[in-house]
Amino acid sequence: MGRRARRSKGQAPRPFRRAREIPKPSRQGSAFWPTVAAIEARRHLRVPIRRHEPQKMARRILFTSQKGGVGKSTLARAAAVALAARGRKVLLADFDEAQQTVMRWNAQRRARGLEPALDAAVFSKKKKLRGLDGDYDDIVIDTRGHQDEATLELAAASDAVFLPASFSSDDLFPTLRVVASLRETGVAPEGVAIVFCRTGGSKRQEEQARSVLEMNRITALSQALPQKDGFVTAYATGRTGAEAPNRYLRAAAKAVDDAMLEFIDTVAAAKNGGKKKAAKG
Ligand SMILES: Nc1ncnc2c1ncn2[C@@H]1O[C@H](COP(=O)(O)OP(=O)(O)O)[C@@H](O)[C@H]1O
Ligand SMILES: [Mg+2]
Repeated sequence: MGRRARRSKGQAPRPFRRAREIPKPSRQGSAFWPTVAAIEARRHLRVPIRRHEPQKMARRILFTSQKGGVGKSTLARAAAVALAARGRKVLLADFDEAQQTVMRWNAQRRARGLEPALDAAVFSKKKKLRGLDGDYDDIVIDTRGHQDEATLELAAASDAVFLPASFSSDDLFPTLRVVASLRETGVAPEGVAIVFCRTGGSKRQEEQARSVLEMNRITALSQALPQKDGFVTAYATGRTGAEAPNRYLRAAAKAVDDAMLEFIDTVAAAKNGGKKKAAKG
């Protein structure tokens, strides 16, 4: 039975002891004593012992598209490696259970001992990510080529949402539809960006694609990842484009990685600024 329960009804509560009355931690005995004294001190001062520190939230970065084969998995693993190379603790979350492209690629990466090594795992439900926030700075999410409710839900809980697409109108028009459904779901438009991937070399096609997005007020990253055979070889050995042997390919891929990371940092900073303002006001 606790002290409170034992106190009879009519009895006045004992006044709190002042801080100076609190016995100093004993220097005698084992190192165990100061801890006990500190707990006693907190009890008398009625300072709550905080049992649950507010949990930090990992940044969530999602790759989605209505189509398969546009570069979701490729860009997700490139972003994950680029973030990890900056010293961030990264989880690559594979929500494409059927394909598990990033899982297979990561197995190759681990088998070769490539650095930075990444944690990767398959997931089927958004809620399973919840317990992992304390363990990671960034969770990079690869999804299936299908806009289902689960993907939209994941997107709504993400800081940055990337949609890979080529310059072709066959890729772009479904992408416009995906952006519209993301907006309807409540995904902040400023957190959404198109990443051009698997592109050809036509400047005119690039200009056309960019102007379609501009007309629709959709952000596109300034850098594009060209379709190159050299990348295919790099990917097969657990590498990203920025780790390809050819230096021109490396530079092109690194430019895209840098653009993705800059976008992530910008949206995350804006989100945190907004949260701080909301807390103040
Ligand atoms: N820039 C590129 N150059 C060459 N091949 C690429 C490039 N980007 C992706 N690929 C290849 O294209 C295919 C589809 O890419 P992937 O990332 O798996 O698309 P998604 O995840 O959207 O289905 C894969 O075989 C991948 O290796
Ligand atoms: Mg994929």
